[in-house]
Amino acid sequence: MKSLDIFAADKLAPLVEQGLKREITVTDRWAAGQARRAGRPLLSFCCNDYLDFTHHPKVKQAAKDAIDRYGAGAGASRLITGNHPLIAELERRLAALKGTEDACLFSSGYLANIGIIPTLVSKDDVIFLDELSHACLRAGSSLAASTTYTFRHNDLNHLQELIFKNRKNHPRALIVTDGVFSMDGDLAPLDQLAQLARETDCWLMTDDAHGIGVIGAGRGSRHAFDPPPAIPLQMGTLSKGIGSFGGYLCASKPVIDLMKTRARSLIYTTALPPASVAAALAALDIIETDPVYCQRPLQNAKHFTDSLGLPAPESPIVPIIIGPTDKTMRHAKSLEENGFLVTGIRPPTVSVGTARLRFTFSAAHKEREINALTDSIRRLGIV
Ligand SMILES: Cc1ncc(COP(=O)(O)O)c(C=O)c1O
Repeated sequence: MKSLDIFAADKLAPLVEQGLKREITVTDRWAAGQARRAGRPLLSFCCNDYLDFTHHPKVKQAAKDAIDRYGAGAGASRLITGNHPLIAELERRLAALKGTEDACLFSSGYLANIGIIPTLVSKDDVIFLDELSHACLRAGSSLAASTTYTFRHNDLNHLQELIFKNRKNHPRALIVTDGVFSMDGDLAPLDQLAQLARETDCWLMTDDAHGIGVIGAGRGSRHAFDPPPAIPLQMGTLSKGIGSFGGYLCASKPVIDLMKTRARSLIYTTALPPASVAAALAALDIIETDPVYCQRPLQNAKHFTDSLGLPAPESPIVPIIIGPTDKTMRHAKSLEENGFLVTGIRPPTVSVGTARLRFTFSAAHKEREINALTDSIRRLGIV
């Protein structure tokens, strides 16, 4: 073996032993809530396509029309010639939905976070990060090279303590949190975070990847609160509730102008394909006009938790924490044998000892399908 291959094999060996080597399985998501693996039909409860827009006829048609009109790809980065007209339209629509002055489209949510954070803070500054924040918020914080303090999940007292002790030592401070936590499904206490940020001169940034389309009548996790708190930096993705691909930041005009001038992951990457942007626009049309439809994923999650006697969900994401990785993966396999696709989530995505089955619900799931799932979960002794 060559040294490179030896290096890779040595890195993998302990992961194989701990059951942590990943397999990327071919999955044919041929219709809303439906998948096939190795030709076998499965009911999927592990997709982020909460509103089933990836298969919505109007969304698909919009994508096809955009290809016919503008081509299959953007052809260049936004600052060169990739900034096709649909991008400006989508930025206007996202800003309106989120109630901000302006918005900026990135080519994915991950790229958004690794661009936004280092554009705002750098080595002299400080970041306060919820411990369960998504991996790309951590990546963005590392790139910023700021001093980073991690606060206990949704623990306002801990955050306050860290701010009181450390804020004064840094010119700028950023509080970063998911709006809806991707592996736990709970919401951040955005009203209290916004107040604390205001009182301590910190900028608050939320990653609402799992909020748009499904929380707050489709407008996102800020709108789960009455009145919606002021959040100057609202990031999100188009790849989940919107059913397409891409990331965004909604913020004031000066902040967005700065992003377009300095965010490296916006400047040095190719713009989103027209089809993805058109699909997102068509999805927004539906979200804006049908808030009742937007509630369905959460209602389905509630039917699931009610059936199993679990705590009420705050979002369409419901984890059942199993603990050990091998047991979690065994349960996922048993569910698959029963016709249900539910992926096991294990370290390092979640911390050691908290491996889980992560169920996500979409508008398409029928009550009888959820009942069949809960019957299997009980029969297999998972709950
Ligand atoms: C909370 C959160 N933020 C950001 C992302 C990244 O978004 P994207 O898939 O658009 O890169 C994800 C998706 O995995 C996520 O769950």
